[in-house]
Amino acid sequence: MTIFRGTFLDTPDNPFTGGDLRVDTDAGVLVTDGTIVARGTFADVRQAHPAEPVVDLTGGLVLPGFVDTHVHFPQIRAVGGLGLPLLEWLDKYALPEEARMADASYAAGVASEFVRGLAAAGTTSALVFGAHYADAVDALFTASSEVGLRVTSGLVVSDRLLRPELHTTPSRAYDESLALARRWHGVGRNRYAVTPRFSLSCTDELLAVCHDVLEEVPGALFTSHLNENETEIAAVSELFGGCDYVTTYDRHGLVDRRSVLAHNVHPTDVELKLLANAGASVAHCPTSNAALGSGLFPLTRHLQHGVRVALGSDVGAGTGFSLLKEGLQAYFAQQLQAEDGHPLSAAHLLHLVTTAGADALGLSSEIGDLSVGKRFDAQLLRPAEGSPLAVSIAHADDPEEALARTFTLGTPADVRAVWINGDLLHT
Ligand code: GUN
Ligand code: ZN
Repeated sequence: MTIFRGTFLDTPDNPFTGGDLRVDTDAGVLVTDGTIVARGTFADVRQAHPAEPVVDLTGGLVLPGFVDTHVHFPQIRAVGGLGLPLLEWLDKYALPEEARMADASYAAGVASEFVRGLAAAGTTSALVFGAHYADAVDALFTASSEVGLRVTSGLVVSDRLLRPELHTTPSRAYDESLALARRWHGVGRNRYAVTPRFSLSCTDELLAVCHDVLEEVPGALFTSHLNENETEIAAVSELFGGCDYVTTYDRHGLVDRRSVLAHNVHPTDVELKLLANAGASVAHCPTSNAALGSGLFPLTRHLQHGVRVALGSDVGAGTGFSLLKEGLQAYFAQQLQAEDGHPLSAAHLLHLVTTAGADALGLSSEIGDLSVGKRFDAQLLRPAEGSPLAVSIAHADDPEEALARTFTLGTPADVRAVWINGDLLHT
């Protein structure tokens, strides 16, 4: 048993529905076998457990570990390809790098960098877009197992309109996906995600196979891309006989509570209604949307329809692993929509990168906040003395203001320590 002492901030009560940021200064959190078993003032927890060791985290902010609901492992070396819209960016930057994943040892090096990069940014759980090659996905799960991250991922499948070496066939996709799921789903903290790249690169036959795999793997998630770019959306409509983008997945039984669809920058009201009724989640990826010029995310419309929304970094179209940066960019994207934008407080941003992410990934009973009964997935943010963030926080009136300044100025360099399931990571 260990008592963690510090200032804890989290969002067990959703700020989008009237809840507020929970701030406990000089609190004590007692952790046994990775689970939080008591929480209160440090003095009270100490008195009840006088003999337990204390980890002193005072002088910083303790937050739940971040949950990244959309990030591409084979794209970390493609970050920074600026200046192109989605389809041109894929051709020039993303897909050539993804083709390199055919080399399993190259993929293993990338996977190792990837999981360490996520953890160093304070991300403890992620829904990861895998690779088009089974051995590369294997390398990702191997690397995540070494670090102990909570990773949900799978084989990315496509059978048209990419470069040919990235294409599979429906029957090969079925066999390779199931083999990976049997090897990794539910092993340690790994889970499987059925992952067609996007409708543009998938025939109906392949999407039908995706449904078959999803049904064969209880507890698996479904993830793909949705309504990201107007040229892409028009091409999808053309290929699927004029139906809307959500329907291309839904008519194969792929839209339900297990689904996490990235972007949805340009949805119709009919699509939002369908997503809400299905209980599906949308991964909003704000730096990617800005970098590719995809558009401004209509958060208010998602909330009005009751669609679940969380955040994703979308590395490599996104600009890095930090969900602090994604939070800030999400805030910017709403500020830029004069009439329709949803004003976002620091509490909203923290909710989006923690509790909302846990909810999207079906992990709410285990993670997302630091309440009794949850796993101790946490991070300590403590900027170096004299750094811009440290100077700024020194002038904050209260911890909520310190949190807003952290979203504004914070980087992975300010993440001093990360715990998953109570274990300190060494990144
Ligand atoms: N749509 C299909 N593939 C991708 C990808 O790799 N990145 C983004 N942002 N959108 C996609
Ligand atoms: Zn993506």
